Amino acid sequence: MRLSQLELRNFRNLREVQLTFGPGLTVLFGHNGAGKTNILEALYFTSTLRSFRCSELGPLVLRGARQAAVTVTGRDLQLGLDSKLHVQINRGERSTRRLAQADGKTVRSAVDFYGRLRTIVFTPEDLTILRGSPGDRRKFIDRALFARERIHISDIQAYEKLVRSRNHVLRDDFGGRTPANREQLLDTYEQGLAEVGARIWTRRVDFISAIRNGFQTTYRQISGGKTAAEVRYKSGLGSVGADQREAALRKTLRERRSEDFRRGRTTTGPHRDDLEVLLDDQIAGTFASQGQSRALMLSLKLAELQISQNPAGQAPILLLDDVSSELDPQRSRQLFEALQGLVHQCVVTTTAPHFIPLPATWAAHHFEISDGSVRKVSIGDNPK
Ligand SMILES: Nc1ncnc2c1ncn2[C@@H]1O[C@H](COP(=O)(O)OP(=O)(O)O)[C@@H](O)[C@H]1O
Ligand SMILES: [Mg+2]
Repeated sequence: MRLSQLELRNFRNLREVQLTFGPGLTVLFGHNGAGKTNILEALYFTSTLRSFRCSELGPLVLRGARQAAVTVTGRDLQLGLDSKLHVQINRGERSTRRLAQADGKTVRSAVDFYGRLRTIVFTPEDLTILRGSPGDRRKFIDRALFARERIHISDIQAYEKLVRSRNHVLRDDFGGRTPANREQLLDTYEQGLAEVGARIWTRRVDFISAIRNGFQTTYRQISGGKTAAEVRYKSGLGSVGADQREAALRKTLRERRSEDFRRGRTTTGPHRDDLEVLLDDQIAGTFASQGQSRALMLSLKLAELQISQNPAGQAPILLLDDVSSELDPQRSRQLFEALQGLVHQCVVTTTAPHFIPLPATWAAHHFEISDGSVRKVSIGDNPK
């Protein structure tokens, strides 16, 4: 969907706000705490029904208010129709709930709402993907896959449930089972883990090989080409061909049973895998500088964006939070030059518009955000 308008009511510190979007770049600028990231959060929320900053809904509602609302208007290029997405967040006595509507119709399941507005977000916190745990990196791959293949969500849920069930048996959590009964249960769970696990493993491997080229090219463009970047999916079972994965998982789970009994948990499978991001053959998380890490993460996200074009040639909307704060001016310029060829619509936040080096031919709209209110301003094509 191509974004044309965003209306917010009582969303975070934004009481009553309306923004219009055109093609190209939308620059949101303003002082710290003005509400810039909140606007990106509202767009992301309309895309995924969750925030990239917190897991609860309550904090999204203006303090003291009972209800927040986000309305996005856009054009579905595939259908050639205008479309309206509306999400309300209602603070109740006991819980806070959301109500999502697409073109006036309530959509109950998040999975069905997901992806009508497609966004890819980059925030400074994304550096934890490189520096954090393997779990953070798996989450990055899985989120990207959720947006592409809905079945991946249910596979991940089913897989996690099977791991919990197997762990219960390993720890004999509920007691009272004969050894034969236990072995039989483990056979069943391991069969399930191998089937679902192999599907997850394969999707992740395929995703990484699909983004690898774009990742390397984009990193070269942004960094100016002095260092080589690499990305690899790292399975605890090593490199195994797609048709062998289910059997390999089943075999390893079986072999590890006594070890897993001792440890009381399942120590092998896709829930233990990792994504390796390398810079000059070194693990980026401990090797790359802040600026290099940022460029690597951006390149991963842009590579994801490149393979996310749908048949109508529509790429997701790119949301860049505070992107220029740690890139030097030259890297920043190289980034925006690279972006021009990759994205159709991009919303960026910055404390001052001159931090965003606009390529001369790229259309840009500027909004000044100040204490939760928004003002459209006109700035020359190339503010310096
Ligand atoms: N639920 C809320 N109600 C009112 N204000 C909020 C709420 N949540 C966050 N804020 C305020 O929003 C501001 C942060 O907005 P943010 O978009 O992160 O700023 P920035 O412009 O620096 O990106 C802070 O001043 C914070 O106090
Ligand atoms: Mg911010």
